[in-house]
Amino acid sequence: MDKVVALCKRRGFIYSSSEIYGGISGFWDYGPLGVELKNNIKKEWWKSMVQLRDDVVGIDASIIMNPKVWIASGHVEAFTDPLIECKRCHLRFRADNKEDIKNHEATHKGKKVEWTEPKTFNLLVKTYLGVTEEEKDPAYLRGEITQGVFVNFKNVLDSSRIKIPFGIAQIGKAFRNEITPGNFTYRSREFEQMELEFFIQPDEKEAETWFSYWKMERMKWYVSLGMKKENLRLREHQPGERAHYAKRAEDIEYKAPFGWSEFEGVHHRGDWDLSRHKLIYKDADSGREFTPWVIETSGGVDRSALFFLLDSYYEDRDRTLLRLHPKLAPYKAAVFPLVANKKELVDVAQKIYDNLRKGLFVSWDDRGNIGKRYAAQDEIGTPYCITVDYQTLEDKTVTIRDRDTTKQHRIKIEKLEDELTRE
Ligand code: GAP
Repeated sequence: MDKVVALCKRRGFIYSSSEIYGGISGFWDYGPLGVELKNNIKKEWWKSMVQLRDDVVGIDASIIMNPKVWIASGHVEAFTDPLIECKRCHLRFRADNKEDIKNHEATHKGKKVEWTEPKTFNLLVKTYLGVTEEEKDPAYLRGEITQGVFVNFKNVLDSSRIKIPFGIAQIGKAFRNEITPGNFTYRSREFEQMELEFFIQPDEKEAETWFSYWKMERMKWYVSLGMKKENLRLREHQPGERAHYAKRAEDIEYKAPFGWSEFEGVHHRGDWDLSRHKLIYKDADSGREFTPWVIETSGGVDRSALFFLLDSYYEDRDRTLLRLHPKLAPYKAAVFPLVANKKELVDVAQKIYDNLRKGLFVSWDDRGNIGKRYAAQDEIGTPYCITVDYQTLEDKTVTIRDRDTTKQHRIKIEKLEDELTRE
């Protein structure tokens, strides 16, 4: 974990937010490579969940909504964590986080630690709008992106041709006043979610079918992008563990250095949300009106990015590498002239670079020796390195080197794009 955190900072994936002012707990900034990784995750998710499906459409709702949304959805009342306070030093912790409590007690070196009774602590982040900065009139930053989908349910139905079963997908920021942010970006106060709300007939058998379907689809998606199967598992929530809206929940967990950890939830939300917002569906053929049930898949972009990084990190004798899937790697390829001071080589390399970058994000490097350039690209997960050498000037071929095997072969310049975009 420490090595990945250090790599993230050193190579421009993730920095702590407002670092020059000492940072702020639970907030992170993505650097030049981190933003590419995150965008690639979101792009792949959107492609598979929206663009390649006939039964899902996307939306992008606002972060701040009418506060009545959060009263209706039950979040103002029930979106809480149990909070306890150490009576010695007044630090606060989640009462259900046994690990943090144990660690904290250890800091008092054997002295008896007394805790306050657990109090419920609401996780919604409040804000104030306009000129009336009054406590009694707060608005909320959304605690889950989900409610933006439900409140637009009728708009989407009226403006598209979808019929049940169908889904509405969304990606966006959510905010939670987490009591104890930690484990790098894992538990943050500002994070991004990628969610599907899938509307079905109100029927237990239908719910079972779609719940199983979506949890397997989501597992397959992570594996298709290179996450190792043995580092993934599904875990069903026990009744006391479930969020206030869920009839059933299963988490997709990753075997992180800090233990098995949830990074996507599949939830059977029943008719909780639509009935709370008083929304119904009318079947166009039969005229029957009913409240659909919802199966939800809710993944975290930041947690996925962290786990893709951890999963792809390798130390291989004399090199460090990220074996990121080519669809996720910030750069698809890097282009090098063998030496920087031979104009003929630089000109050809520059032409290849300009050509490739029209369709792919590629990097340029002409510093130091080739070995150092390979090492630098391996460390940021670039799958291919292309070198223009003296033979290129004779036969219009270049070497292409594979990050994982370190093997090289020669290829015609005109074949490069095909080679790099092969699925
Ligand atoms: N709409 C359902 C929902 O929000 P959730 O299980 O509370 O369900 C879904 O959150 C996902 O959002 C989590 O699996 C995780 O990936 C991400 N997430 C939740 N809280 C987070 C936090 N504090 N920091 C980073 N990601 C978080």
